[in-house]
This record gives sequence, structure tokens and C-alpha cells, in this order.
Amino acid sequence: MKVLVINGHPTPKESAAGKAILNAFLKQRPDAIVRTLAERKADSPAGFDVEAEQAALRDADIIVWHFPFYWYSVPGLMKTWIDSVFLRGFAHGSNGTALRGKKLVVSLTTGAPEAAYAEGMPMNWPLEAFMPPLRQTASLCGMEMLDPVATYGTTAMVLGGDEGREALAQAAQKHAERLAAVIASIEKAEA
Ligand SMILES: Cc1cc2nc3c(=O)[nH]c(=O)nc-3n(C[C@H](O)[C@H](O)[C@H](O)COP(=O)(O)O)c2cc1C
Repeated sequence: MKVLVINGHPTPKESAAGKAILNAFLKQRPDAIVRTLAERKADSPAGFDVEAEQAALRDADIIVWHFPFYWYSVPGLMKTWIDSVFLRGFAHGSNGTALRGKKLVVSLTTGAPEAAYAEGMPMNWPLEAFMPPLRQTASLCGMEMLDPVATYGTTAMVLGGDEGREALAQAAQKHAERLAAVIASIEKAEA
């Protein structure tokens, strides 16, 4: 199946976790197409070449949204992309069937550790509690959103010197393997 990775990092050159995950993932799935939104910004009111973005989505079977978790959601750049590209008549509405039947896999990194994502802890809720807007976006467009593949605690790794770098490399490799496994399970189910 055709895998399209939408890289929603607003400053991909400064990314540590997201970049390491993408590099590891592409070793497993060299056939995947990566669209880095920060490199696709257009000088237009929509902010993107909407037709080109829609064509890329149309062509994919499995769409991966890969992003750093920003304020409990996708980064603003990615939200602008969704707002501009997921239009009525394309993604929703009676004639908007272009995304129907596609699978959406959310692949994200958080700064906070997993233990912080729980009642009574700094983030108060588990990660899944922040997913309904994304799940409903997928649902309205007729896409099935799978459970997110998440790597938590990247801030400590990034600030953690040599040990942190090693932990990040290992976490990125594990994330890439989990992401590839989710995609392989979709492919198996659809075969
Ligand atoms: C504007 C902004 C908002 C952030 N919001 C969150 C958040 O809501 N929850 C969280 O756990 N981390 C948050 N972080 C931390 C990022 O998720 C973390 O730095 C990122 O996942 C690391 O990936 P990268 O190395 O690819 O940039 C935020 C960071 C920034 C810059």
C-alpha cells in the first residue's frame, strides 16, 4: 500500500526526536513518501498549494501524521495545512469522498514523560484524552484513525547529554519499528 508521511514539524532542521524517528522509519519503509510541510509553504492565502497537497493525499492508502505534540495538539503549521486542504467537496460534504477508506496513523513525540500523562499528574489526562479532535477529523472524512504511536519524554533525552542521545536513538528506533508494524498490520488486514 502507498504510505504518505506528512511531517508536521514547523522547524524540521531543529528537530531531534522527530527527525531521528523519520530516518529510522525510512530505513524500514524506503517506499514511503515524506511531505515536509515546512518546505511546502506557499505564498498564498491558503498557505499551501492546495491542489498539490490534495493530489498527494488522494494517491495514498495510508496517511501518517508525524508531528511534535504542541499544546496538546498538532503544531499550528499542521493545523493550517488541515484547514486549507481538508476542504468540503474534497474531504467532507456529499461530494467530498477523496479520503474515504484511507487509514490515518498518528505518530507523535511529546516533551513530557509518559507518567505525566495521567490524572493528578502535570498533564492531567492520558494522551488518548487529547485525541478526539483528530479522531473526529478522520471520522468526518471517512478515514479510520488507528491508535497513536507515541514517544514520550523527549525533552529529558534532548537535554540528557551522551546518555540522553543514546536513549533518543533507541527510542527513535523503537518508534520506527512500532510505526512500521502498525502499517504492516493494516496491509495484512487489507490483503
Ligand atoms: C510550542 C511548543 C508546545 C509544546 N507543547 C507540548 C505539549 O503540549 N505536551 C508535551 O508533552 N510537550 C510539548 N512540547 C514539547 C515537544 O513536544 C517536544 O519538544 C518535541 O516532541 C520534540 O520533538 P523534536 O525533537 O522533533 O522537536 C511543546 C514544545 C513546543 C515548542
